[in-house]
Amino acid sequence: MNMWWFITTLAITAFICNSPAYAYDNNPLQDICVAVNDSKAAVFVNGKICKDPKFATANDFFASGLNVSGTPGSSGASKFLTVDKIPGVNTLGISIGRIDLEPQGLAPLHTHPRATELITVLKGTLYVGFLVPDSANFFKSRLFSKILYPGDVFVFPIGLIHFQFNVGHKNATYLAAFNSQNPGFVFIPNSIFSSNPPIPDDVLTQGFQLSKTQIAELRRKFS
Ligand SMILES: *[C@@H]1O[C@H](CO)[C@@H](O)[C@H](O)[C@H]1NC(C)=O
Ligand SMILES: *[C@@H]1O[C@H](CO)[C@@H](O)[C@H](O)[C@H]1NC(C)=O
Ligand SMILES: *[C@@H]1O[C@H](CO)[C@@H](O)[C@H](O)[C@H]1NC(C)=O
Repeated sequence: MNMWWFITTLAITAFICNSPAYAYDNNPLQDICVAVNDSKAAVFVNGKICKDPKFATANDFFASGLNVSGTPGSSGASKFLTVDKIPGVNTLGISIGRIDLEPQGLAPLHTHPRATELITVLKGTLYVGFLVPDSANFFKSRLFSKILYPGDVFVFPIGLIHFQFNVGHKNATYLAAFNSQNPGFVFIPNSIFSSNPPIPDDVLTQGFQLSKTQIAELRRKFS
């Protein structure tokens, strides 16, 4: 390829990727941008509305409570400190959570559409993994999985389906850091079988190669 053509294409691509309409965690345009809901108290707009910096305080950048487990769920407990909990992370592209799983407890197959996740195990033994579509055949995938112990770190790339499973005999605790102020949570089974309105039976029976009875059973389980 002609060198100048290559450089021009690169420059145009770079320009498009930096366009202001790109709804992504951008690099911040100012030192701080503490999120506020009241538009009258706001000055700059980048991500959420920002608090006038002269009214920002240390507490905007502070949260406590990751020393204890969070809201109990079906197989454990979770607590996430996203921009709604630490408004100071607005525009900074970062957030954190704590997850506790009981023995055999599972963070079921899910994705974070806006963030890569990096976990650090504090306690217990986890079997974790993520799926990468096979580039030679998109109808297949590769599983990248690992057993983790305290102090171990594992990364789940942005958007990919993953899970965390407590394979130990005690509660497991891990911290999850995200490179987004608002990573998003898509739980695959719940999204599919518990949508409102429901996905028509024909789509699900054909999509999963199951009978209407089996689909009804899955709908009931995830409702
Ligand atoms: C903004 O409003 C939402 C919903 O009312 C609330 O949960 C959140 O804590 C508020 N965030 C800030 C930074 O005030
Ligand atoms: C957790 O931290 C909070 C805030 O620092 C503190 O009030 C609470 O006593 C701590 N709880 C435990 C169980 O350590
Ligand atoms: C394990 O976690 C559950 C809640 O998820 C809690 O009720 C239980 O007390 C925990 N067990 C220990 C030993 O911390």
